[in-house]
Amino acid sequence: MKDIGVLKKEAQKDIIRASSISELDGVFRVYLGRKGSISELLKKIKDLPAKDRKKNGAQLNILKRELEDLVARKRKDFTEKIDIQDDEWIDVTAPGVKLPQGHLHPLTKVLWEIEEIFISLGFSVSVGSEVEDEWYNFDALNIPAHHPARDLWDTFWLKDKKKLLRTHTSPAQIHYMQETKPPFRIVVPGKVFRHEATDATHGFQFYQVEGLLVAEDANIAQFRAIIQEFFSKLFKRDVEIRLRPSYFPFVEPGFEVDMRYKGSKWLEMMGAGMVHPKVFESAGYIPGKWRGIAFGIGLDRIAMMKYSIDDARLFHSGDIRFLEQF
Ligand code: PHE
Repeated sequence: MKDIGVLKKEAQKDIIRASSISELDGVFRVYLGRKGSISELLKKIKDLPAKDRKKNGAQLNILKRELEDLVARKRKDFTEKIDIQDDEWIDVTAPGVKLPQGHLHPLTKVLWEIEEIFISLGFSVSVGSEVEDEWYNFDALNIPAHHPARDLWDTFWLKDKKKLLRTHTSPAQIHYMQETKPPFRIVVPGKVFRHEATDATHGFQFYQVEGLLVAEDANIAQFRAIIQEFFSKLFKRDVEIRLRPSYFPFVEPGFEVDMRYKGSKWLEMMGAGMVHPKVFESAGYIPGKWRGIAFGIGLDRIAMMKYSIDDARLFHSGDIRFLEQF
């Protein structure tokens, strides 16, 4: 009796190689048909010595089932291919299916818009670092240790007590001035951190855009013109602004900038002022040679106004139902 293992290999090879349904039908007949090799072998079982009958019969039946399975799978391949080749048609007039697509975060959108406006006003964009030395975040900005003004910025200190998460983007002023000779105008966007309880208008992390303009003749009238232009472009309408005296240790004089749309009430938009001589000193500038304008814009606040959002925590919630709306 022909070796069953050899038969199996030959049959598998032939089935796999069949290149059409009619070829496959042919292979089926050769091995599995009524007069095929397996049927012939099964017929001969009864002539075998009794001890071999059972084993050979079982093996042949298993092989038969395996090959039938393989033929069935191969047949399916052909019929599926035929579906695609012959039956498929494409309705080129059908409307497209819209795939879900990601998009920019509302804060990113507003930030990019702000950057564009400042670039159009001659500023360049720089970056700072979220982890800062105590000296850059405070001392260099005229806020020495134990100065009561440190209480304005509740701080996340790192284990190494000299390092902290910056409480504002102002330390970027010092870094930039240490590396750059004036005149220049820059904006520095970035995330800042405050160790505070959160509510609808205060997060423990939010974004600021720091502005710094240094020149021999920088002055408040120039600042006013720049900021007026900035808000008009950002809110795409005429706005009124006013400077209200305020205190920040790193500017003198210091003020808060309020803005008002037609008829609305005054809204507090940013802190600003003329760069304090101590700050120039920290940066290593020649005393008295330069004048500077500095400002710090709260990005989340502006995005809330632009998009009429009433809870700042939504920005950082990762809630897709919120984010999808922008
Ligand atoms: N750094 C200040 C703050 O975070 C804002 C500011 C920047 C004020 C620059 C004046 C000048 O509150």
